[in-house]
Amino acid sequence: MGYNTGKLGFRGLSAALSMALAMGAAAEECQEFVDNLLSQMTIDEKIGQLTLPAAGDISTGTSRKTFVDQQVADGKIGGILNIRGAEKIRSIQEVAVEKSRLHIPLLIGMDVIHGYRTGFPIPLAQSCTWDIPAIEEAAAIAAKEASACGISWTFSPMVDISRDPRWGRQAEGAGEDPYLGSEVARAMVRGFQGDLSKDTQVLACLKHFALYGAAEAGRDYNTVDMSRQQMYNVYFPPYKAAVEEGVGSVMSSFNIVDGLHATANPWLLTEVLRNQWSFDGFVVTDYASINEMSTHGLGSDYDNSIAALKAGTDMDMISEGFARNLKKGVENGDIPEALIDSAVSRILTAKYRLGLFQNPYKYNNTEREKTDLYLPEARKAAKDMAAKSFVLLKNENSLLPLKAEGKILLTGPLADSGANLPGTWAGDVLLDQTKSVLESMREYVGNKCEILYAKGSNICDDPHVEWGMTVGGREMRDSRSAQEMLNEALEKAQSADVIVACLGEGGEGSGEGSSRADLTLPDAQQRLLEALVATGKPIVLLNFSGRATVLSHEDEVLPAIMNVWFGGSEAADAITEVVFGDICPSGKLTVSMPRSVGQIPVYYNHLMTGRPKIPYDAPYRPYSSNYLDIPNSPLYPFGYGLSYTNFDYSDFEISDTELKDNGVITASINVKNTGNRDADEIVQLYIRDVIRSIAPPVMELKGFQRLSLKAGESRRVSFDITPEMLKFYNYDLEFVAEPGQFDIMIGGSSDKTLKQSFEYKQ
Ligand code: BGC
Repeated sequence: MGYNTGKLGFRGLSAALSMALAMGAAAEECQEFVDNLLSQMTIDEKIGQLTLPAAGDISTGTSRKTFVDQQVADGKIGGILNIRGAEKIRSIQEVAVEKSRLHIPLLIGMDVIHGYRTGFPIPLAQSCTWDIPAIEEAAAIAAKEASACGISWTFSPMVDISRDPRWGRQAEGAGEDPYLGSEVARAMVRGFQGDLSKDTQVLACLKHFALYGAAEAGRDYNTVDMSRQQMYNVYFPPYKAAVEEGVGSVMSSFNIVDGLHATANPWLLTEVLRNQWSFDGFVVTDYASINEMSTHGLGSDYDNSIAALKAGTDMDMISEGFARNLKKGVENGDIPEALIDSAVSRILTAKYRLGLFQNPYKYNNTEREKTDLYLPEARKAAKDMAAKSFVLLKNENSLLPLKAEGKILLTGPLADSGANLPGTWAGDVLLDQTKSVLESMREYVGNKCEILYAKGSNICDDPHVEWGMTVGGREMRDSRSAQEMLNEALEKAQSADVIVACLGEGGEGSGEGSSRADLTLPDAQQRLLEALVATGKPIVLLNFSGRATVLSHEDEVLPAIMNVWFGGSEAADAITEVVFGDICPSGKLTVSMPRSVGQIPVYYNHLMTGRPKIPYDAPYRPYSSNYLDIPNSPLYPFGYGLSYTNFDYSDFEISDTELKDNGVITASINVKNTGNRDADEIVQLYIRDVIRSIAPPVMELKGFQRLSLKAGESRRVSFDITPEMLKFYNYDLEFVAEPGQFDIMIGGSSDKTLKQSFEYKQ
């Protein structure tokens, strides 16, 4: 079917458009095109472009409202989310293009968060690879697959800094650090959007703007209250980085900022986003945010819709608040129609950038849907990334890697549960086809050794608790009694040489709406582990989690622990190859793992107190900033992660002890792989501003390099340090570097670094 644009004659324009696009799509031409189209729209059609309803193909929110084709034909809809399949999407796109008066194509949105059909590790795990090119490639593969299925717009990247693992959405971001978070944000924008004229790229959506990761008490959707200094120095950088990288859209967050809903906060959406950062894309609300503003106690549906538009929101996801109220707002004189025009213009511009006016069926190539999904190269990239994301937390007496010999007992609720491995927001990964760790290990060892299996326990005992017990609608509970399951595991443990326990959260135990107050292993699994420990057999814990969890007890009683997160559709093979030593683990934590929930928030780049912790003898109170019952430090710090080899850092030198304006200091260090296997190491550069006008953090990540070193190989690694890297937002929110002493720290973990100092002189 051809693309007939009726009176506007887009067909004629389309030749001119393609030339313009080929020549670099001049902004002016786009503007002219958009202005021309806008000038022919009725107010209802304009508001239609600002309206984003869902299809019911998947559900990502509580509202069940869906659109009907007639609304599309009437030009009352600008895009649709949660609709699946190139063919189906094509037919609704046809309604928009053929039947609506102005033939404007729809945006088709979906949460393509960590892969589409090929499941990559959850974003938190991806960040633990510190492998920026691989993260970019993962986004590009996700874009290629999603676009083959009709999707033109992904609600990703989620770049919210999170220092609170009670918040289940820690799974969806890059952890606690603004610098690493910014690098990841940029990589994902590049990977998704690349060259938007291609049909293999999609529009990205930066979310959730802003500060969503700082929800009080780690409870999802909760209030945020924070100083401007903390916003600009810690929470804003990844959003800003994604904007600089050219992200095409931004999603406002669900939370309150300064007493206003983020969706109707003019300071955030207009002053910061547009005026300070020059964002030129469009802003969409999160799911039903405008409706929810009334529940926050923030006025009527009418007031909230007007306030959201005025603040800088362009598109209303689900609420239909714009559809109900904006026309009235113009009639009442509460908003000028020009404000609606600006919003419409931004959305039409995005459609233009995507090439949808030129070819509205660009993403409906049903051939590609058959040929471009779950390809061997995509699966390999996903497996490699999963293997790089695992963080080896403890490995006493080199228990890992295991030899494929004797009898190995594989146990735990995550051992034979492929559907759990893709984790939250699993996209269109075929959960039933995802290999389990048991299947993978048995395949790998063949008849070299015996893998015994006993489930051992359910994820938790409580029959009412949903998390991890149903995955993608699949029932994961074992109907046997807890005791029967435990007995089976213990009996099999008797004849095993080593036990591999696959314990943790379950794929949907983290993610949206999945906050937890207790981050230790659920009771059922703790009982299993205790009973296994009592057998005296060596135990390897593979901890599955979508966040930092509390493993203090496990650290005391177990010789080996590896955090394997949720590694995607290829996770099982990656786990097998790391456990048996074909691949050496190299992931490093991007979130601090607390000793206890009571320490939260615990993060590496904290400020000093006036009374730093001092050693003391209980029971005397030292009146210093510490707990009476546990250390201040996390159990495993940011940047930490072991390998099957060791790395030695030495000969740390800096090229000068003074840094002048426009100058550079080079910091260099020897890194040696002192073991007998080839491996990767992540070398981390931290800087501390010793004294400055607002209290400085004890250290801040400013650079990193991922190295591959052969057994015995040494390499000199260097980092250039410039005044730009010393800048921070001061009390008046000016981005400045202040003269004085700075420490440079380099090492393989934030708690294990070598130090040099220099003075910065302006
Ligand atoms: C989530 C967003 C998501 C949206 C659309 C919301 O509930 O907070 O992250 O993009 O739903 O599915």
